[in-house]
Amino acid sequence: MNPENSLETFMLACQSRVEAALDARLPSADKAPARLHEAMRYSTLGAGKRMRPLLVYATGHALGIAQTTLDGPACAIEFIHVYSLIHDDLPAMDNDDLRRGKPTCHKAYDDATAILAGDALQALAFHVLAHDPDIAVSAENRLAMLETLATASGSLGMVGGQAIDLDSVGKALTLPELEGMHIRKTGALIRASVCLAALTQPGLAKRDQERLDRYAKCIGLSFQIQDDILDEESDTATLGKTQGKDRDANKPTYPALLGMAGAKTKALDLHEEALDSLRGFGETADYLRAISHFIINRRH
Ligand code: IPE
Ligand code: IPE
Ligand code: MG
Ligand code: MG
Ligand code: MG
Repeated sequence: MNPENSLETFMLACQSRVEAALDARLPSADKAPARLHEAMRYSTLGAGKRMRPLLVYATGHALGIAQTTLDGPACAIEFIHVYSLIHDDLPAMDNDDLRRGKPTCHKAYDDATAILAGDALQALAFHVLAHDPDIAVSAENRLAMLETLATASGSLGMVGGQAIDLDSVGKALTLPELEGMHIRKTGALIRASVCLAALTQPGLAKRDQERLDRYAKCIGLSFQIQDDILDEESDTATLGKTQGKDRDANKPTYPALLGMAGAKTKALDLHEEALDSLRGFGETADYLRAISHFIINRRH
């Protein structure tokens, strides 16, 4: 099979599947407080590449897990991601007007509503993992999933990475410092996407857990490197978010530190390492292989 071609079909199927699953799990817009629920739905539904849900479904595919079991984890990780984007765009953070091709949450609503929509999406993510009746896993594994998502989201994961990002503006970071920031702010949720799916497999061999985790670490870093590259090389219409923000805000990025060619070489090296990590898996892991390729070649 040609993994690239079939990834496109799989990606579209996952996007529509997770769209329906997110819609079903979000509070309806006519339920009070209506403006808050409207803002949560506005930022979550209708756009976004859904890379993290895709990773949940693709990892599940590699392990032979039923998609109904994966819907809850896929939604939980996307809710955390959307909350992180809403807060990332706030005036106190990156101060962005455009997200996913439309006005950011605080522009469409107001700062306070955007803060609260992010807060509520975060709580909803944990509610879904704790409560979703379709997640067919043991109580022990469900607890491990909650812990995985909490660690990936918190001060040692995404939020910690965002703090380092804001603290690094205008500073010359070393390569290990930059890598540490990227691994946390973006890598942690990507790694958690793979880990949550792995936790739906009862008794997955430790060796396979480690292989998947090494793969996820590589693509988590390459994902943010490509995000930095696109911030320089793409355009606002294609990105659906404002191009050139990193340079304007004097953010430390891979292209800023290594040059554009160096950043691209680093992304390619990580792709090779991701593929190497999956060597023990058969054809069912082809979607994961194709996702790594997609991440470093995407244009938005
Ligand atoms: C953007 O994430 C923010 C980063 C963590 C780099 P995505 O590129 O996955 O954004 P959406 O979900 O497709 O909008
Ligand atoms: C965002 O990094 C990381 C998180 C939202 C956690 P960026 O600030 O580079 O993301 P974009 O470019 O605004 O999507
Ligand atoms: Mg940011
Ligand atoms: Mg930003
Ligand atoms: Mg960016």
